[in-house]
Amino acid sequence: MDQKVAELLNDQINKELYSAYLYLDMANFYSAKGLDGFANWYEIQAREEQDHAMLMYRYLHNNSQTVTLEAVAKPDKAFRELSDPLKAAYEHEQYVTGLISAIYAAAQEVRDYRTIQFLDWFVKEQGEEEKNASDLITKMELFGGDAKGLYMLNSELGGRAYSAPSLQL
Ligand code: FEO
Repeated sequence: MDQKVAELLNDQINKELYSAYLYLDMANFYSAKGLDGFANWYEIQAREEQDHAMLMYRYLHNNSQTVTLEAVAKPDKAFRELSDPLKAAYEHEQYVTGLISAIYAAAQEVRDYRTIQFLDWFVKEQGEEEKNASDLITKMELFGGDAKGLYMLNSELGGRAYSAPSLQL
């Protein structure tokens, strides 16, 4: 396997674990505000990010690569308004899409079709994650402005259930 592609995937494990940590911090923020549905949404998001990291970890091992685990950075975003995490999450997913695209481009450069095929799942997943994050901002703007609307939105987000990733290695 090309070493640059392997290194980028190795770095991405760390980025995905940071994403998990960031989303857990968002759940933490909402939990403290008494919004258990929003907290549930981000707790599940955090689990999905751990799944993403594990997929990359297994993929590297399946391709005889050594994985190096680095320190996971402290989540350092300050949230004040209830909509702050929603906006930060959308920005973060756009950033992650850029990272996945960079690995994809590196794999293309060396004609690593196996990694390209592996990453196709992540490309699609990023599209879904950006849409979900953007939809949440819209819903908050439309319905989050009064107590009843916020209550309903919190109930809706509380209904999100975890499911394992459709990609299995
Ligand atoms: Fe692992 Fe939210 O992308």
